[in-house]
Amino acid sequence: MNAADFAYLADLLKRRAGFHLSPNKTHLAASRLAPVARRYGFRKTDELFAELRDAPEDLARAVTDAMMINETSFFRDKPCFDHFRGVILPSLLSARAASRRLRIWCAAAATGQEAYSLAMILDEAKIAKDWRIDLIASDISGFAIARAIEGRYSQYEVQRGLQAQTLVRYFAQDGDHWRISEHLRRMVSFRTFNLLDSYGWLGEVDVIYCRNAFLYFEPLAKRACLKAFANVLAPDGYLALGASETMEGASTAFVPDDASVRGVYRKARHAIRPVALAS
Ligand SMILES: C[S@@+](CC[C@H](N)C(=O)[O-])C[C@H]1O[C@@H](n2cnc3c(N)ncnc32)[C@H](O)[C@@H]1O
Repeated sequence: MNAADFAYLADLLKRRAGFHLSPNKTHLAASRLAPVARRYGFRKTDELFAELRDAPEDLARAVTDAMMINETSFFRDKPCFDHFRGVILPSLLSARAASRRLRIWCAAAATGQEAYSLAMILDEAKIAKDWRIDLIASDISGFAIARAIEGRYSQYEVQRGLQAQTLVRYFAQDGDHWRISEHLRRMVSFRTFNLLDSYGWLGEVDVIYCRNAFLYFEPLAKRACLKAFANVLAPDGYLALGASETMEGASTAFVPDDASVRGVYRKARHAIRPVALAS
């Protein structure tokens, strides 16, 4: 891939997804884009770039999708899920006892393992009968979301993070893969969504999981997303980032929830809008 095409790609990813493409990723870009070029009938990636510059939306979306890093696993970073089970869920079940409504958003859900891990915890809590729970999972990658909806995982994927008894309980063998139970699949609603777009469809949420996406973001895009998160998160809600992601230099709207678990935040006092008093 020549330098001009690489620079064009870096700019495209920044504009479309807030993604920072490091200069040392030329080989990665070439290997990710070769299948896209073939799919669209180009012999080489330079032909793909010539077409891309004419800005066809479909091709730009396919290129962006192919460059995303969808790495994930079930119960990835276990302490964060233990914290959800032991602290976040009990605290919100108590705070929402009157409405019996809970809204949880996995904002960079990749191929679904994170959302299904939360669904397993919710299922084990046996609250579905009495509560209305929205578990929403979104990702910019249509490819990843299609896989999440299918809920079919390889032996390697289920081995990463799932204990044998959990696997048997929530999956059925499907050839050499494992398929998530229909019960769990129905607990999650999936959609393709770019975090840089408008959040108008979402409404207020009690929990946001946006883990390991900001690692690859441009600082300004991360800042804009955190501002949007502060707007949609309930005053007493929780935000979970990846264990190695921080708020530093990006937002003052959140403070760490608990020093013993990395990546979990609550709204800072000044970010909670005062409730208008009835006169
Ligand atoms: C490394 S995966 C993390 C998956 C999961 N949250 C986890 O921690 O295991 C990062 C995900 O962020 C998604 N992503 C990147 N930029 C995005 C954007 N602008 N809007 C929505 N999702 C995005 C990618 O497609 C990818 O699936």
